[in-house]
Amino acid sequence: MSAFDVVVIGGGPGGYVAAIRAAQLGFKTACIEKEPALGGTCLRVGCIPSKALLESSEKWVETRQILARHGVMVSDPKLDLTATLKRKSDIVTMLTKGVDGLLRKNKVTRFAGHGRLNGPGVVEVTTEAGVEKLEARHIILATGSKSASLPGIRLDGEYVGTSTEALSYSSVPGRLVVIGAGYIGLELGSVWARLGSQVTVVEYLDRILPGMDREMADEAQKLFAKQGLVFRLGHKVLSASGDQNGCAVQCEGQEPILADRVLVAVGRVPNTDNLGLDTVGLTLDPRGRIPVDEHLCTPVAGIYAIGDVIRGPMLAHKAEEEGVAAVDHIAGKAAHVNYEAIPGVCYTHPEIASVGQTEEQLVQAKVEYRKGSFPFRANGRALALGDTEGRVKILADAKTDRVLGVHILGPRAGDLIAEAVAAINFHASAEDLFLTSHAHPTLAEAIKEAAMAVHGRAIHI
Ligand code: NAI
Repeated sequence: MSAFDVVVIGGGPGGYVAAIRAAQLGFKTACIEKEPALGGTCLRVGCIPSKALLESSEKWVETRQILARHGVMVSDPKLDLTATLKRKSDIVTMLTKGVDGLLRKNKVTRFAGHGRLNGPGVVEVTTEAGVEKLEARHIILATGSKSASLPGIRLDGEYVGTSTEALSYSSVPGRLVVIGAGYIGLELGSVWARLGSQVTVVEYLDRILPGMDREMADEAQKLFAKQGLVFRLGHKVLSASGDQNGCAVQCEGQEPILADRVLVAVGRVPNTDNLGLDTVGLTLDPRGRIPVDEHLCTPVAGIYAIGDVIRGPMLAHKAEEEGVAAVDHIAGKAAHVNYEAIPGVCYTHPEIASVGQTEEQLVQAKVEYRKGSFPFRANGRALALGDTEGRVKILADAKTDRVLGVHILGPRAGDLIAEAVAAINFHASAEDLFLTSHAHPTLAEAIKEAAMAVHGRAIHI
């Protein structure tokens, strides 16, 4: 039986980052992944391929609708969807191979197979060749999540499917119904709407993007509606089914909505399938997650868990932070994840990015706050880009001026939010933000101006 200091089960952004960190600290480390490619949902069938398609579909819209405004005339553009999908797959292959290379460079032993606990300190790996047992002083569970579905829905892997299928439709569906107006529904709904589908987004709640600041989400919804997305809010989906002759989505008290394809994007659930938790006496919490303390330790000594399989937002960067923190804790180093400063980004157009508290949360917690806002239409760089929709909103403590929440709807919001994350991480005030020089002309100036607006002294509005 081979012996390791650290065995990581799962090779997604949480798992592979934890493995590399463990190797950096001199631990003899193994990483087990059941899929042929490393990188997890994020690299293979999530964040990365969706961003590739978002980018390509934006180029398509730009070519047909925007370039003429710049005086660039293009006649009769054609969409080669096969090439679009191949570009996406090539990016995924490049990145997953890159992770392979990183593990090799760091001398992490990779096992290709299904990892499972088999009693304290033992992990077994099932591969095509058989079962191999590993002895592990420390085990990190990083098995991620899988798509959730609804009771009345039969996922057929073709017509009624999840994001995995929606990343690879071989033709542009005439009508696409998206169930769920969360991150996945809006991103992939946008992709196919841009490429020509009639997209209807059906959402149970009376709003899109639950969890994001309501005001910003409502503004975003109006912009997406202008782009052609049809929203059916407050609709409870009871069933969905379909075949090559068409699909139907049945909502409570409504006529069926007909479509050519249905994308089910109603969230994800922790993946603990056949993980052998019972062999060490680990039980899941009521929501199916592995319980952990602030150091990512499960109640079983020597076993840690990180990422989508534990509490908190299901985000790759959150899993990475936890991977590093778990390993640093194993090494006896100070380790801490600041959950107040984990950004969320929805990569629609415009993007929506958020960090810290929403206005609703502050109201509910009875925190006194001041609010500053700055629209991109008053930002020179946004005008030059021709991308002026949206704004930056900053919420700061009324007494201390500490930045409590930053919400951006606008061009490159996902990149802009980094400054706000740093500000919240370092307990900066709105004044700190606006006393910081921002290059001109940049989109980031909208953050400075919004911080000034918190103090009623914005210059350009
Ligand atoms: P989500 O939790 O973001 O949204 C699911 C939506 O489905 C919610 O609005 C919910 O109210 C709605 N819903 C639930 N049951 C419903 C029903 N019966 N009928 C109609 N609507 C219903 O989940 P999503 O979009 O599936 O994403 C899964 C996870 O993946 C999320 O945790 C997200 O954080 C992560 N993700 C992150 C991305 C990013 O960071 N850009 C991109 C894609 C996914």
